[in-house]
Amino acid sequence: MVKHNNVIEEAMKSLAATKEKVSTDPCRLKFHVTAPAFWINDPNGFSFFKGEYHLFYQHHPYSPEWGPMYWGHVKSKDLVHWEQLPIALAPDQEYDKDGCFSGSAIEKDGELYLMYTGNVWTGPDHDTDLKQVQCLAFSEDGVHFKKLLENPVIKEAPDGDVHPFHFRDPKVWKQGEFYYCILGSRTKSHIGQVLLYRSHDLIVWEFVNIAAKAEGNLGYMWECPDLFHLGGYDVLMMSPQGMEPEGNLYHNLHQAGYVLGSMDYDKGILSHGEFHLLDYGFDFYAPQTLTDDQGRRIMIAWMAMWESEMPEQSNSWAGAMTIPRELKMKKGKIFSTPVAELQQLRTDQVTYENIKISGEQSLDGISGEVFELEVAIDPKSAIQFGLKLRVGNQEETELLYDKDSGTLSLDRSVSGSGPTGVRSADIDLIDSMLKLHIFIDSSSVEVFVNGGEKVMTARIYPDKQSTGVTFFSDEQIEIIKVNKWGLSR
Ligand code: FRU
Repeated sequence: MVKHNNVIEEAMKSLAATKEKVSTDPCRLKFHVTAPAFWINDPNGFSFFKGEYHLFYQHHPYSPEWGPMYWGHVKSKDLVHWEQLPIALAPDQEYDKDGCFSGSAIEKDGELYLMYTGNVWTGPDHDTDLKQVQCLAFSEDGVHFKKLLENPVIKEAPDGDVHPFHFRDPKVWKQGEFYYCILGSRTKSHIGQVLLYRSHDLIVWEFVNIAAKAEGNLGYMWECPDLFHLGGYDVLMMSPQGMEPEGNLYHNLHQAGYVLGSMDYDKGILSHGEFHLLDYGFDFYAPQTLTDDQGRRIMIAWMAMWESEMPEQSNSWAGAMTIPRELKMKKGKIFSTPVAELQQLRTDQVTYENIKISGEQSLDGISGEVFELEVAIDPKSAIQFGLKLRVGNQEETELLYDKDSGTLSLDRSVSGSGPTGVRSADIDLIDSMLKLHIFIDSSSVEVFVNGGEKVMTARIYPDKQSTGVTFFSDEQIEIIKVNKWGLSR
């Protein structure tokens, strides 16, 4: 315990020494969760505890690169204003000495328990030379955590066709008399799968079964699973590594999505349908959900992608979380929408109605570096139309709808510095209209399409001065309504 505290204190000093410098970076995000400095990846332990939302994250507090993992920690009463808390977990034990990898949180007897993966490298090759075990830490105040003496609580992968070492990212929940946990895994021949465990006390775990397994193009490893009930279905969310591109789909290095089905808890088997993405942009991985006191299912994800270029690294930080998104089941699919609390950030509304646009045009007051935009477009007879965001000197981020192919494309080829490329999603017009709800932060864009049916997320790195917004089309279109708000915390 003393050692854990000391290791955390050292890491906090490292953050304190760098956070001033980081805060002056113009591409620092204004309303997204980031670490005060240095690297973050997956959301962890996203939970509602004693009236507050807690969010932990994979964190390397010594450099803007991935390294031995700690758990950073923020909490919030409203999912919008986040308070930075001390690092919650540090790798200080034999069983987690090379990293406290991803995991989740659950309340038990008034205490907050974190279940995470202890990672140890057993040789130089991080793909083959590793040992992963499952561990617990707990806290009364939700801030200071002690690791359990019984750790690791799951010491090795089960027998059967389960890879012995790639065995990580426990997501824990309670159902009936049992605690359950689902773990990311692969078979011995590298096919992604998830493992179901159950326990009466969180400490002694019994392996139930391989709950689901990749078929066809579903990857060689499933990371960061989550399993929950929503709108009549059992939903398995997971992040498959190694899916091949198919048409417009799966062009990121790794994917994040879900299948819908029905879980037989006695057998530990999920019968399910096909895989759907949760986001069609570039930067979305390892999503995790919670349910809050209002019964909402809320998801947050890492707004980045492994091996992607991250220009902010030169300013000593890297990575962020998406905005929290509420999940709802509609038409047999998951819709995600920005949580309503984000409306607190709105300032200076600008509205236009029934505006006809030909060629390319801007509208007075519709521009910005950090803003929210809601727009409904009737394309009339136009085939190609859309809008450009963060327009400036030789820079723009384009959203183009093409009626012939029925696709919306997010193009960051000339967004600014940083990664480029185009992602497209199949979108049907609804009542002959395209409805977009867009959140722009200094270096990010999140586009919710047709009421959250699809979402496209990207990091972009335009110049601070690139604040223009234009609407364009090949034939006259009508903007039925556009609302723009500044966003300020
Ligand atoms: C997913 C992941 C997890 C792992 C963590 C390590 O992004 O690879 O499987 O626990 O990141 O930081």
